[in-house]
Amino acid sequence: MSFSINKISDISEDKSLVFLVNDLTQLKSSDLSADEMVYIRRKEAADKKNRRFFINRLNRLVAVLIPDQSIKLNERIEWLRREGAACWNKLKEEGLKQVQVVNLTDMKLAGLALAEGLVLGAYSFEKYKSETKGTLFPEVGLLDEAIALSQVEELIRVCRAVYLTRDLVNEPVGTLNAVKLGSEVMSLANQYGFKAEVFNKAKIEAMKMGGLLAVNQGSIDPPTFTVLEWHPDNAVNSEPYVLVGKGVVFDTGGINLKTPPGSLDTMKCDMGGAAAVIGAFVAIAANKLPVHVVGLIPATDNRPGGNAIVPGEVIKMHNGTTVEVMNTDAEGRLILGDALSFAANYKPRLVIDLATLTGNAAIALGEHGTVGMGTADDIIMKKLADVGDEVCERVVWFPFWSDYDDLIKSEVADIKNVGGREGGAITAGKFLSHFVDAPWLHLDIAGPAFILKRANYRGIGGTGVGVRLLYHFLKSQSK
Ligand code: BES
Ligand code: ZN
Ligand code: ZN
Repeated sequence: MSFSINKISDISEDKSLVFLVNDLTQLKSSDLSADEMVYIRRKEAADKKNRRFFINRLNRLVAVLIPDQSIKLNERIEWLRREGAACWNKLKEEGLKQVQVVNLTDMKLAGLALAEGLVLGAYSFEKYKSETKGTLFPEVGLLDEAIALSQVEELIRVCRAVYLTRDLVNEPVGTLNAVKLGSEVMSLANQYGFKAEVFNKAKIEAMKMGGLLAVNQGSIDPPTFTVLEWHPDNAVNSEPYVLVGKGVVFDTGGINLKTPPGSLDTMKCDMGGAAAVIGAFVAIAANKLPVHVVGLIPATDNRPGGNAIVPGEVIKMHNGTTVEVMNTDAEGRLILGDALSFAANYKPRLVIDLATLTGNAAIALGEHGTVGMGTADDIIMKKLADVGDEVCERVVWFPFWSDYDDLIKSEVADIKNVGGREGGAITAGKFLSHFVDAPWLHLDIAGPAFILKRANYRGIGGTGVGVRLLYHFLKSQSK
């Protein structure tokens, strides 16, 4: 069971309703009764700032929403997404799932944004609940002349991809180790028509991916390296965009076991970058974007035990760079370094990596933004940040000054894998830069990838951050 969104041409009397209006005069007597209109007018008079009115008609709910014309379009759209989630909470409380969204505003995207918030807000991860009979998903009817059916279908496919990414992040390591992650990609590739291949440990050894192998040393489960490719005949670019996702299926910290113990609690989310890349591929392929994209997912758990790597060890990465491993909890950069250097095989036009890479990024922005940095040109950086504002998966560009380079110098190897606490998100990025030649952007999603409290439409647990950003960015590049 899942959500649905359909275009409708009439209002039906027995379903809930959300009216989106520029002002209350747009509502007709057939929409609201005279009493209801009086009630709303009274509410409005009591508080001029009130832009959301709910009427309970016993067997259905009616909401009237008035977007604030004085705020920026992106903010208004985001307000509507959040209102969509708020409407869903009300509907769910009443056991109602059928809702009609009527867009009477002059904002073209208002109805879609509300539907997006309803649907994304309704996500929950209930696979392991014995009782799920009561789970509701919205059945949205959209009455909106400005919107084409194709836009509705696109939204559905993107929301499904976000659900999928959240599911992957929420799945614990016991049922989603690196091998299982690879096989999940294979079945999605079959379903959505992109190509994929999973390299096993022997192949990873043959490719000399010393970073991925080092992180995997303490594990019983082998690592995987998964390559995804979407290359439609009508692709606008010959050199691909390469998306790299950190796939640490669980991060204990390794021998440098994470402390305090609570800091381990959410570490199933450490493949959030990989899950976002997978979700982006699903969205891209399902919507048949005319763009050539390659995805790379190095995956392993990071554990102490067995022959686990210890501080002071020197390893050789895929591109030959030697690394002194000074903290086994800085494992993400080791597996990403190999993947970034492997990306060179594709002569990429642009490489974007997504990773829950540093606590430092989460400290800087909390759950509200992604820390970005890199070497791509200003136009690309501006475009990505603009798309981030549009979909409200916001990216803040951090400096990437050469002053930070020295912090990862090593006495015994080419570089070391830690650069101290200060500027930790940046030194992690600096580490990665040793492995990329192409124009490149690094997105540290440690803050927004996983949230403990349900907040508006972002779900709980995995948020799926990165999917809508990557999809809409690549869509913008395909025009
Ligand atoms: N997976 C963590 C980063 C992380 C922290 C993700 C919080 C999500 C939420 C990463 O592998 C890590 O442990 N980084 C260390 C690096 C340090 C040892 C240089 C960190 O940020 O503390
Ligand atoms: Zn770590
Ligand atoms: Zn990690």
